[in-house]
Amino acid sequence: MNIKEKIRNMCREKNAIIMAHYYTDGEIQDIADFVGDSLALAQKAAETDADIIVMCGVHFMGETCKILCPGKKVLIPEPEATCSLAESCPADKFAEFVKAHPQHTVISYVNTTAATKAVTDVVVTSSNARQIVESFPHDTPIIFGPDKNLGSYINSITGRNMLLWDGACHVHERFSVEKIMQLKALHPDAKILVHPECKGPVVKIADKVGSTAALLKFSINDDATEFIVATESGILHEMQKSCPHKIFIPAPPNDSTCACNECSYMKMITMQKLYNCLLNETPEIVVDVNVVEKAVLPIKKMLEISAKLGL
Ligand code: 13P
Ligand code: SF4
Repeated sequence: MNIKEKIRNMCREKNAIIMAHYYTDGEIQDIADFVGDSLALAQKAAETDADIIVMCGVHFMGETCKILCPGKKVLIPEPEATCSLAESCPADKFAEFVKAHPQHTVISYVNTTAATKAVTDVVVTSSNARQIVESFPHDTPIIFGPDKNLGSYINSITGRNMLLWDGACHVHERFSVEKIMQLKALHPDAKILVHPECKGPVVKIADKVGSTAALLKFSINDDATEFIVATESGILHEMQKSCPHKIFIPAPPNDSTCACNECSYMKMITMQKLYNCLLNETPEIVVDVNVVEKAVLPIKKMLEISAKLGL
């Protein structure tokens, strides 16, 4: 039996489900029971009846699962797979910022630690940020953290003036207009797909701005046959699988000669680590019960609003 068959067997024996984010390696996505963007992964975690959830993604995604399913065992193949965006927002500093701005509703991107979620009113992902922000009256004072790029994009499309935390994703900040336009010159008919974690000037040249799931859907439904993709290159796996006849070109980072822009944290998840993790049922995600009690509220609020809006 090869390692993939052994993994699938263990899943059956242990009633375990493997969930993977679109940024993980293609072979990890292929062995998973469920692949999705941050919102879909949280929605799936909330409804699964598996006893064990293995999160093939980064640490905050495992924490979100654990917070939603405190009675289940949540495993992560590599506990060091963190996220530069979540790390750009230490919970104690964010709590001080919140305290300094009373009367503000606190909206946090899902890319945050559980402790930061614990001082948040409602969580959002890039799939539902616009709709959730717009569910509050226009004059509501709002703190939005930690991604300043997503926050300014939402400000620009909603006409709001949310107070932004100064955080960013090191992967998405590496895309540049210059490199993307060089590719566009070589592929003039290609449509440009951009994740809203990218900087404002990159977002401005996009034909479509959206979460990983939204970009994937657009690439499937749009008539174009070529796409320049400015988000982590793992998403190209599902895009190419869904549309084998279309051409997907990864946008390169501005500061290197690599063709692809990869999240080194997501790429820490390997087949061998997944195997070991299922076999030994470790490393396990642990979240302090007091933190779970507080952090579950804004996550559930996000899921409720999303369900009401059909997202
Ligand atoms: P989405 O999956 O919500 O598009 O988020 C991208 C991301 O950076 C996940 O870490
Ligand atoms: Fe975090 Fe950026 Fe990696 Fe997403 S791509 S997990 S935001 S570091």
